[in-house]
Amino acid sequence: MAATGSRLTRLDCRACCTSVEADRVAGTCPTCGHALLATYDLDGLDGRAWVADWPGRPSSLWRYRELLPVRRTDDIVTLGEGRSPVLPLARPDEGGPTLWLKDDGGLPTGSFKSRGMSVAVSRAVELGIRELFVPSAGNAGVALAAYGARAGRTVRVYLPERTPAPMKEGCRAYGAEVVELPGTLREVGGAARERERRSGAFDMSTLREPYRVEGKKTMGLEIYEEFGGDRLPDAIVYPTGGGTGLVGMHKAFLELRTLGLLERMPRLYAVQPNGCAPVVRALRDGAASVVPWEAPETIAPGLLIPAPFDSERILEAVRGSGGGGVTVTDRQIVAAVRTLASRHGVSASPEGAATYAAVPELVRSGAVRDGESVLLYNTGSGLPFSLASLERSVGVAGESEAPRN
Ligand SMILES: Cc1ncc(COP(=O)(O)O)c(C=O)c1O
Ligand SMILES: [Zn+2]
Repeated sequence: MAATGSRLTRLDCRACCTSVEADRVAGTCPTCGHALLATYDLDGLDGRAWVADWPGRPSSLWRYRELLPVRRTDDIVTLGEGRSPVLPLARPDEGGPTLWLKDDGGLPTGSFKSRGMSVAVSRAVELGIRELFVPSAGNAGVALAAYGARAGRTVRVYLPERTPAPMKEGCRAYGAEVVELPGTLREVGGAARERERRSGAFDMSTLREPYRVEGKKTMGLEIYEEFGGDRLPDAIVYPTGGGTGLVGMHKAFLELRTLGLLERMPRLYAVQPNGCAPVVRALRDGAASVVPWEAPETIAPGLLIPAPFDSERILEAVRGSGGGGVTVTDRQIVAAVRTLASRHGVSASPEGAATYAAVPELVRSGAVRDGESVLLYNTGSGLPFSLASLERSVGVAGESEAPRN
């Protein structure tokens, strides 16, 4: 069977330095319960030759296979995910930062979650796991259902009752069993883990499973490939829920730096709605970990995460990059959904639109300066959402919002 050339060596816990054998089924750290992250043998990899080889490779995230955890090509479960477009965004005024938008809305299953699930389901296949479950705000469930279907695995998805109907239907259409429960993802996750305790099914929750973050790492690798090492954006603005995207992109930039390919790391900015901003609050308070957000509320389902798992890693990623945090209101998010569609032709999820809504505050606060280049990450398509009902839920109609500089 053909080998991918993966340079995966082991799994490491950053909290307590426990190392775990990579080729056995593993969830969280057996010593302290924090996340396990994949370590690769980068010493023997010639970074420049590796990058020079990318253009001739398949147009999916599997072109980065040496820094992905799957060992055998036959185990790869793919729907052609990755390689999403980076679009310039016209600015309403002169001056201010140059804006780019990386659009994952066109990826398989309509969001960036396909990146993590392609890699994690492939690894589950490789390690012989047959039954998978995930508590999800919607997109991760749809992605697991699709990749699980392709891999012939049994999938159960636990969704908050208020998840958009197209996402619930999407999971069912891919053949997953859907369990709807009350509360936010925090309560749903707790209940799901309790129910699954003796089922033998594997928990695919982000960072409780070591490989989804490796798939999300490819967001950083693609940004590197798109811009080149010497012209990377000064800042990347990311809609933060569970925070795995930030951890993944930071890991990408660290690995590229170890390979001698990166001089300057983009600053990572976490955007959260002001009704649920535990990561931004922890960044502002200089806290070592996140305190759960009381009474969380937002129209962006993927950002309704009051207590992200292993928040130390998220804070480390943002601080290590020299970035920060910013909040936006639901009203600004909905206006940004409208503007991205009507002015830029981009169908953005409320989560992705939050990054556009954050630009004026990033400029006003001086976090981003005139002449810098800023990449906004649209993590998902707007298609599962009705703009009219988003507008009704924040009490406005037809309002656009431009990033004013
Ligand atoms: C569209 C969208 N954007 C962003 C997020 C949050 O991503 P992360 O867990 O990487 O912070 C989610 C999570 O559900 C999502 O569905
Ligand atoms: Zn540990």
